[in-house]
Amino acid sequence: MVGQIQRPHVAVLAVLLCWLTGGLSIPDPRLRETLIQLENSMQTGGNVMLSNAEKQLDSLLLKMKEEEMNRTHFPPAMHFFKARDLIRTSPLFKVLHRMPKGAVLHLHDFAMVDVEWLVKNVTYRPHCFICFTDNQSIRFIFSSQWPKARPRCSPWNLLEKLRAQSVNATHLDNSIMNNLTLFTDKDPETVYPSQSEIWYHFEQTFQAVLGLVTFVPVFRDYYSRGLSLMYVDSIMYLELRALLPELYELDGSSYNTSYTLKTYQEITKQFTAENPGFFGARIIFTIHRGANESEVVQAVEKAMTLQRDFPDIMAGFDLVGREDAGRPLWYFRDALSLPAEKRVKLPFFFHAGETDLEGTDVDQNLLDALLFNTSRIGHGFALLRHPLAKELSRTRDVAVEVCPISNQVMKLVKDLRNHPAAVLMSENHPLVISSDDPAAFGTSGLSYDFYEAFVGFGGRKSNLGTLKQLAINSIRYSSLDPSEQEQALVLWQKTWDKFVSENTF
Ligand SMILES: *[C@@H]1O[C@H](CO)[C@@H](O)[C@H](O)[C@H]1NC(C)=O
Ligand SMILES: *[C@@H]1O[C@H](CO)[C@@H](O)[C@H](O)[C@H]1NC(C)=O
Ligand SMILES: *[C@@H]1O[C@H](CO)[C@@H](O)[C@H](O)[C@H]1NC(C)=O
Ligand SMILES: *[C@@H]1O[C@H](CO)[C@@H](O)[C@H](O)[C@H]1NC(C)=O
Ligand SMILES: *[C@@H]1O[C@H](CO)[C@@H](O)[C@H](O)[C@H]1NC(C)=O
Ligand SMILES: *[C@@H]1O[C@H](CO)[C@@H](O)[C@H](O)[C@H]1NC(C)=O
Ligand SMILES: *[C@@H]1O[C@H](CO)[C@@H](O)[C@H](O)[C@H]1NC(C)=O
Ligand SMILES: *[C@@H]1O[C@H](CO)[C@@H](O)[C@H](O)[C@H]1NC(C)=O
Ligand SMILES: [Zn+2]
Repeated sequence: MVGQIQRPHVAVLAVLLCWLTGGLSIPDPRLRETLIQLENSMQTGGNVMLSNAEKQLDSLLLKMKEEEMNRTHFPPAMHFFKARDLIRTSPLFKVLHRMPKGAVLHLHDFAMVDVEWLVKNVTYRPHCFICFTDNQSIRFIFSSQWPKARPRCSPWNLLEKLRAQSVNATHLDNSIMNNLTLFTDKDPETVYPSQSEIWYHFEQTFQAVLGLVTFVPVFRDYYSRGLSLMYVDSIMYLELRALLPELYELDGSSYNTSYTLKTYQEITKQFTAENPGFFGARIIFTIHRGANESEVVQAVEKAMTLQRDFPDIMAGFDLVGREDAGRPLWYFRDALSLPAEKRVKLPFFFHAGETDLEGTDVDQNLLDALLFNTSRIGHGFALLRHPLAKELSRTRDVAVEVCPISNQVMKLVKDLRNHPAAVLMSENHPLVISSDDPAAFGTSGLSYDFYEAFVGFGGRKSNLGTLKQLAINSIRYSSLDPSEQEQALVLWQKTWDKFVSENTF
């Protein structure tokens, strides 16, 4: 087990520094070495003891990292869309892919499965209709009858027929695929010149995916594939932020939120039973922050009911969507106080501080999230600019869910060496690494984000101890109760030991 490290006592440092300046003009090299060691030990995983086998693997990893740093084009300094192939083909990535990474704690429901599968598998199923919006986007529905027209969308086309009539079906498929993800082979800076433009496209991809994935049979396959994509990336557990939309059948009938949650539960159980190295999944019910107050009140009430009726799978509640464009948490204070007022348990997992605009109402979300006793902080990109929020997050052990690739693609930071989590990781602030919306960013699982964290803002200093601590953090900061966490850690340790023994020579 790994505990929180102690921050070195300021008094000790003062004494050391006195000694340092005690008459000598050249500082004592032994003192210098002590200080360097001390500072290194302050980072995430800085106090993790490595076995001999782990030390061997650590040297191997550091050599691989050096190779990455020696490249002419340093991947963490590049836009991820351009760096993806460089990362994927690197020897280091292959190790990270096999490394047991623990849990994904920040992941959204309809961006967990690759869009290639959506196009090549889902849109080829029978009864799939498509329409084209007046904003150059697309919408889908499965229906046994000709569906009712949608406002601001062309008449529905049966996709099968459209494909048969099209001159080049591959071209059509590519254009559908481009509508379902942000990833592009073109220059991302040109395609997405500003934060508002990329957020607009991002929300459009969700709208386009929605009609495909809320069809009951597709929903089941989608989630099941989502779980296996995590599992093959050596992830054992996840907490999924889910909108829990109504699911529908071919005849147009639909089910309510409880059914959606029950389906998640059933498929999770089945997947966990079939894959002994997998621990499970829980759901954080979310609503879009563009909602008005009465809608959020209703959502919180629904969340309390679901939390009561499905305590095993329900982890809590959150608001999603662009913070800068939506209302701040404080605007919803009445709704968010309902659980405390009614003495009902509803843990919060707020997105907060996913902004680079200091001093706005939205920028106060970090402090407000903590005032509302959030269990974790989604992104916390602005945390360094809020010393009090940062201190509270540390002392209350409220972990920050750091999503490096998401922050870069959504234009908060260009060069990932400059990500604020570089600071947080250098001082072992409670944090986990996560992937947010892998399908939108052209990633899968967690390994790409681990690469950026380890090579980019981890720099030369982060080592195998860091990676091990990050994996342990992901279980320790999950919503699992203490006894489940112990079980999960035992399972993780088993796969970790196997991984270490297979990688050393
Ligand atoms: C990286 O480059 C340095 C300086 O050119 C060289 O000494 C070192 O061996 C290289 N490391 C690797 C792992 O290629
Ligand atoms: C589509 O996906 C389902 C579920 O993963 C699978 O059973 C089926 O074989 C796939 N079909 C095609 C045509 O790839
Ligand atoms: C269509 O696009 C315009 C400009 O990008 C935007 O302002 C508008 O909200 C969009 N309409 C819909 C329905 O998304
Ligand atoms: C069909 O479109 C794809 C993608 O746009 C292109 O690569 C391919 O050459 C086209 N095929 C034909 C026969 O035109
Ligand atoms: C979405 O699909 C439409 C219709 O095929 C196409 O005109 C548009 O360019 C696509 N949008 C993107 C972002 O690829
Ligand atoms: C969903 O419908 C079922 C009955 O079909 C009902 O028991 C349940 O309370 C409903 N759930 C919600 C969240 O409305
Ligand atoms: C909130 O939104 C709902 C649904 O869009 C709408 O029916 C309702 O009138 C709105 N309430 C207020 C107070 O704006
Ligand atoms: C937050 O936790 C404190 C201490 O347990 C409690 O007094 C307060 O009511 C909680 N606030 C909310 C909004 O849940
Ligand atoms: Zn998110």
